[in-house]
Amino acid sequence: MDRIYLDNSATTRVDKRVADTVYEYMTEKYGNPSSAHSFGQEAKYALDDAREKIAKVINASVNEIYFTSGGTEADNWAVKGLADMFVNHGHPVHIITSEYEHSAVYAMCKHYTKLFPGLFSATFLNPDSNGSISVAMVEDAITENTKLVSVMHVNNEIGIINDISVIGKLCRTKNIIFHTDAVQSFTKVPIDVKAMNIDILSASSHKIYGPKGVGMLYLRKKVALLPNQYGGHQESNMRTGTENLPGIAGFAKAAEISFNEINEEIPRITELRNKLYELISAGVDNIIVNSDLENGYGGILNITFPGVEGEALLLSLDLEGIAVSTGSACSTGQITPSRVLLAIGRTPEEAQSSIRFSVGRFNTPEEIEFAAQKVIENVKRLREMMN
Ligand SMILES: Cc1ncc(COP(=O)(O)O)c(C=O)c1O
Repeated sequence: MDRIYLDNSATTRVDKRVADTVYEYMTEKYGNPSSAHSFGQEAKYALDDAREKIAKVINASVNEIYFTSGGTEADNWAVKGLADMFVNHGHPVHIITSEYEHSAVYAMCKHYTKLFPGLFSATFLNPDSNGSISVAMVEDAITENTKLVSVMHVNNEIGIINDISVIGKLCRTKNIIFHTDAVQSFTKVPIDVKAMNIDILSASSHKIYGPKGVGMLYLRKKVALLPNQYGGHQESNMRTGTENLPGIAGFAKAAEISFNEINEEIPRITELRNKLYELISAGVDNIIVNSDLENGYGGILNITFPGVEGEALLLSLDLEGIAVSTGSACSTGQITPSRVLLAIGRTPEEAQSSIRFSVGRFNTPEEIEFAAQKVIENVKRLREMMN
């Protein structure tokens, strides 16, 4: 059997239909959208078309979409673009976010807290035992200086889906800007920025079978944010620099496909994820499931295998040709337990004994069966070694 990729929340294989589009914009329609000649006009048309496609899948207007280099840039921009508007004028700004936010938001908030002590502050909410951030938690944390609430839609490690529409509604009534990191949910969980009262949203192409290095920020017309890059006039002067048109056209194609196929794809992926869970739980005792199998995103299964070092299991599975992930960050040779798993109540040992399986478009039932078998064998082997 070929290698089995069960790490689709980290990134995805580019869909052939998307790759063809990217290729076309690299080799045939390669003009600069700012050029006046026909190559440029063709590129400009493609850029407008891509913006329209992306806007459509979240019920936004075309002039509310700004292309970026990915989810990280969009998340950074949401925090920085808002915070700078206040701190630059000496006004205090308080942000409410969560303890399990992606580091693109989390680290940005930490950075600003250090950069502007006394002026910038952030509250990091702890999720409840189900792993959710509730509207009551947000409401309790609001202060007179709260300018932004940033709560992710789907968590990348455990797949919990936060009820962002109620948080959005609260923020709108309180006149607080609401940002959501939708990198893991975009075109996988329905999003309507108007109905859900979302002011700012981040998304990324490479999580939805599109190319890497491209994403977008949705910014509601009435919401002001400072530009993210200065220079030319691209992206309405908000994010200047020659547009990555092959990437943007590919992103739009990927979003269109994913959006159109959501009703068949998500149930299929969920069924495979459930099968993986059933097989593993039947073959291995004493496991903790960190994902909400009923209400969470159907592609993610996070399991703690007490007594097993997560990194050892990851490497053992890799030797069998199966790619999974641990939530642990490995920096300077030291493995730190996942912030997300600690936030939902796992101990550091449990967090380090956890594996995230993320199922995607190209996985098959045969792969799931094979992978489950190898997980069972390797967990048993590693547990025996520990005894
Ligand atoms: C929830 C979430 N936000 C942001 C990002 C960053 O996106 P990108 O890789 O496009 O910079 C990721 C990617 O891992 C993610 O999962």
